[in-house]
Amino acid sequence: MIDADVSAVLDQLVPILRQAQHVVVLTGAGISAESGLPTFRDPLTGLWAQYRPEELGTPQAFRTNPQLVTEWFAWRRELVQAAAPNAGHLALVALEQHVPHLTLVTQNVDGLHQRAGSTGVLELHGNLARFKCFEDNQPVTEWSTNADGLACCPRCGGLVRPDVVWFGENLPKHELSTALAATVQSDLFFSIGTSGNVEPAASLPGYALDRGATVVVNNLDVLTSATPPLYRLHGQAGSILPELVRRAWPDA
Ligand code: OAD
Repeated sequence: MIDADVSAVLDQLVPILRQAQHVVVLTGAGISAESGLPTFRDPLTGLWAQYRPEELGTPQAFRTNPQLVTEWFAWRRELVQAAAPNAGHLALVALEQHVPHLTLVTQNVDGLHQRAGSTGVLELHGNLARFKCFEDNQPVTEWSTNADGLACCPRCGGLVRPDVVWFGENLPKHELSTALAATVQSDLFFSIGTSGNVEPAASLPGYALDRGATVVVNNLDVLTSATPPLYRLHGQAGSILPELVRRAWPDA
């Protein structure tokens, strides 16, 4: 269901989208919310209700209590495996097929964009399905378990951890520099389902605006408004994105 004010802004965006040459889409946890994956601002539930993500996703937490951190990521991995891409992910696949050049940058570690069919996704925060050695950061695909039942690196015996970016860690260099380069070259930039609280992703929409791009922000925090070159859309990405693509390419 599309609100009348959202509908009016979508109509303004259609010609901009149809003329865009390089579209950059930055996504966050909100795009996967309709697949049933909690965002970082939903309180943790069940066993995990007493923790905050900022306490569990850190090297210090892993050093202090690797069992606990490993279990938390295993729980998140199970949620992701049980989830499926939603209409928002699929709309971005369609968008990639319509515009001359699209760069999809995600802060999500769930791999749902790739499962939907998006290509060349830049994962700024890694991927839950990959593992690496806690000691040397090299990828690990097979492991043995130690006396505590924890996975150990076959090369050095270090503990195996998820290949995701934890609080206080650097982002992968290639992904970040490619995302930055695409952002400053874009003429249309979408920020979808991200609260913009975590750097450096939070700065990308501002860089795009500074370089003269149109910026579209869609989440449940903003109020819908059109103040070109900045457009804000309040509502679910799984409704708004497919509607925008449908209006821009009605015959597709
Ligand atoms: P947040 O949980 O901070 O924000 C989720 C955003 O999605 C909010 O702005 C919501 O309003 C919006 N939202 C929720 N449901 C939506 C829907 N159906 N359609 C559109 N928007 C919706 O998630 P992120 O901004 O992704 O980092 O968080 C950024 C980073 O903070 C994460 O990658 C993670 C976290 O700490 C690391 O783990 C390093």
